[in-house]
Amino acid sequence: MSQISIKGVKKSYGKSQVVHGVDVEIEAGEFVVILGPSGCGKSTLLRMIAGLEGISAGEISIGGKVVNDLEPRERGCAMVFQNYALYPHMTVRQNIGYSLKVARVPKAERDARVMAVAKSVGLETFLDRRPGELSGGQRQRVAMARAMVREPKVFLFDEPFSNLDAKLRVAMRAEVRRLHRDLGVTSVFVTHDQIEAMTLADKLIIMNAGNVEQVGRPTEVYNNPASRFVADFIGSPAMNLFDGEFDAEGQFLYGKGGRMAVPLLNGVRSPGRKVVLGVRPESVRRIGADAHGAIPAVVDYVEELGASRLIHAEANGSRFVAVDTDMTEITSGMPVHLSIDGTALHLFSAEDGRRITH
Ligand SMILES: Nc1ncnc2c1ncn2[C@@H]1O[C@H](COP(=O)(O)OP(=O)(O)OP(=O)(O)O)[C@@H](O)[C@H]1O
Ligand SMILES: [Mg+2]
Repeated sequence: MSQISIKGVKKSYGKSQVVHGVDVEIEAGEFVVILGPSGCGKSTLLRMIAGLEGISAGEISIGGKVVNDLEPRERGCAMVFQNYALYPHMTVRQNIGYSLKVARVPKAERDARVMAVAKSVGLETFLDRRPGELSGGQRQRVAMARAMVREPKVFLFDEPFSNLDAKLRVAMRAEVRRLHRDLGVTSVFVTHDQIEAMTLADKLIIMNAGNVEQVGRPTEVYNNPASRFVADFIGSPAMNLFDGEFDAEGQFLYGKGGRMAVPLLNGVRSPGRKVVLGVRPESVRRIGADAHGAIPAVVDYVEELGASRLIHAEANGSRFVAVDTDMTEITSGMPVHLSIDGTALHLFSAEDGRRITH
C-alpha cells in the first residue's frame, strides 16, 4: 500500500484550473521530488497534500486514509518552506520545541526530544542562540529540526534551499539525503532545480502547466524522457532537438537541407510524418572531415568547462551543441565535423510531443 495516494486531483482558483488531474502513488519511505518550471503547480500540489489548500476534485490518502477533509495538523505531515519563518525572539531550543509545547508535551520529554533532534542535525551547541545569530544554513537546519521533532509520517519540502548560496545548497542536499537515510520518513520535495532533483530523488515527478509529464527514477527520466518537454527540461546542457521528417529512403530531413541517416529508427520512419529528433550533447562528437556520416558545421562559440567544453555550432541552419574533450585550439567561425551517436537518439511526435518508441 502506498503511503501517499493522489487520485485525479484537480485544483481551480475561481474559473482558472491550475492542476488538471494528477495521479501519483508515493511508497512508504520513498524520497520523491516534484520538478517543473515556475508556475506549473508544484507548490499547489504539495499544499494540497499538507492540507493548506483545498482540493477541487479527486482524492488524497495518507497511510491508507482519505485526508481530503482533514485539518493540516491531523495529517501527520511536517512542512519545510523556502522562508523558514523561525520565531526571531525565540532561541533555537524554543523554536524547535514550540510545536511540542503547543501540544502540551511535558517539559522533560520536550527537552529530551529537542536535544536528540538538535544533535542529529548538528545544532546542539547553538540551542541558546536566536535565529538572528545564525548563518542561513544553520537557520535552515533549525527549520528541519522543528519539522523533525514532531516525528511526522511525511516530510513536505517546498524549495527549502533556494535562499542559500550554491555551496551551502550542496551541503544541505547531502544533509537531507543523510537524514532521509537515517529516519526513512516518506518525503516529498519540491524544486525547479533539476540538479537538486536528480541528486535527491528516488522518484521524480515532472510537472508542466498543471499536468504530470512523467514519473520515474532519475536515470529512467534522463534516458527515456516521455515527452519533448521532459527531454528539453532534464539535462544540462539541454538535449539537441530537431524538427523534421523522414523521406522515402528513411533519411531524416531537418533544417535547411540537412539529412541524417538514422539506422536504428527502423519501423517508425513513416515518410512525411512530422517528428522531433533528440540527441544529447554528449552523444554529439567532433570527428574528422572524411569520416562516414560527418556533418559539416561552423563553430558559433565555445564554452570552456575545465575538463571538457561545449561547442555550439551551426549546420544546415540548425544549432548543434556537442561535448568536446579533445582540447585542441578551436575558435568561433572555425569549420568542424560532427557525428551523432545513432544508438542514442530520441524521437517525439511533432503533434503532441509524446515519445515515439522504437
Ligand atoms: N491563491 C491563488 N489564486 C489564484 N491563482 C493561484 C493561487 N496560488 C497559485 N495560483 C496559480 O497557480 C499556478 C501554480 O502555482 P504554484 O505556486 O503551484 O506554482 P509552482 O510550480 O510552485 O511555481 P514556483 O516554482 O514559481 O514556486 C500559478 O499559475 C499561480 O499563478
Ligand atoms: Mg512554488
